[in-house]
Amino acid sequence: MERILEVKDITKVYQEGNIRVVAVDSVSLTLNRGEVLLIMGPSGSGKSTLLSMMGCILRPTQGEVIINGQVVSDLSEDTLPYIRRQYIGFSFQSFNLFPSLTASENVEVVLRLKGLNKKRPRQKALNLLEKVGLGERVDFYPRDLSGGEKQRVTFARALAGDPSIILADEPTANLDSKTGREVLGLLKDLAVESAKAVAIVSHDPKAEALAHRIVFLEDGRIK
Ligand SMILES: Nc1ncnc2c1ncn2[C@@H]1O[C@H](COP(=O)(O)OP(=O)(O)OP(=O)(O)O)[C@@H](O)[C@H]1O
Ligand SMILES: [Mg+2]
Repeated sequence: MERILEVKDITKVYQEGNIRVVAVDSVSLTLNRGEVLLIMGPSGSGKSTLLSMMGCILRPTQGEVIINGQVVSDLSEDTLPYIRRQYIGFSFQSFNLFPSLTASENVEVVLRLKGLNKKRPRQKALNLLEKVGLGERVDFYPRDLSGGEKQRVTFARALAGDPSIILADEPTANLDSKTGREVLGLLKDLAVESAKAVAIVSHDPKAEALAHRIVFLEDGRIK
C-alpha cells in the first residue's frame, strides 16, 4: 500500500499564560492509500489536535509531518494552504455549515475558496452531493437537514478538489446508529474504491468494526 502521509515524533504544546498543556506527545504514525485508520482515546487525549496536525491546520511544536514524501510541517504559512488544497479533505467535529446557505451553496463556497471550478461550481457541487447520497437535498438549508445529512454535506465539502487524504473528526457523533453506519460505510468506500487514505477520530464501536487499523491515544501518547 502506498504511504501518503507520515507523522514523525510530533508533539503539540499549548501554552496560555502559565498553563502548559502537552496535547500530543511524540506521536509517530503512517497513513496509506486505500485504508481507514481509526484514532481512538478518551476525551482530551489529543485526538483532534493530532488530526489537525495531520491535516496541516495546526503546526506541531516539534516533529515532522510528511505528505507524499515532502516535509510540510516547516513550510511557510503562505505555502500550507496550497498543500491543504492539494491533498487534504477535512471534516470537522462540528459541522461548520453556513446556516444561510443551501447544501449546494455550502459546497460551492468551499470550491470557490479553494479556487476550483470557478466556471461551474454549481454543477461540481451537485456532483459531490450526489456522490455522498444527498442528490435529493441540494437546495435544502442546514436547518432542514437531519444530522446525518448535514454530516454528508461536510463530506461533500471535504471531497472538493478530489484530495488523496480524508480526515474526519467524530463523523458519527450526534447521528443515530443507522445513519452512523451509512456515513462510516461511505468513508470506507472512499478508501477502498477510490484509493483515498482515510483517518477517522471516533469513539464509535461501529468505526472499530470497519477500520483497517486502530491507534489508541492516552494523554497525548499512543498506547
Ligand atoms: N487551543 C487550545 N488551547 C489550549 N489547550 C487546548 C487547545 N485545544 C485543545 N487543548 C487541550 O489539549 C488537550 C487535547 O485536546 P483535544 O481537543 O485534542 O482532545 P480530544 O481527544 O479531541 O478530545 P474530545 O474527545 O473531547 O474531542 C486537552 O487537554 C485540551 O484541553
Ligand atoms: Mg476532539
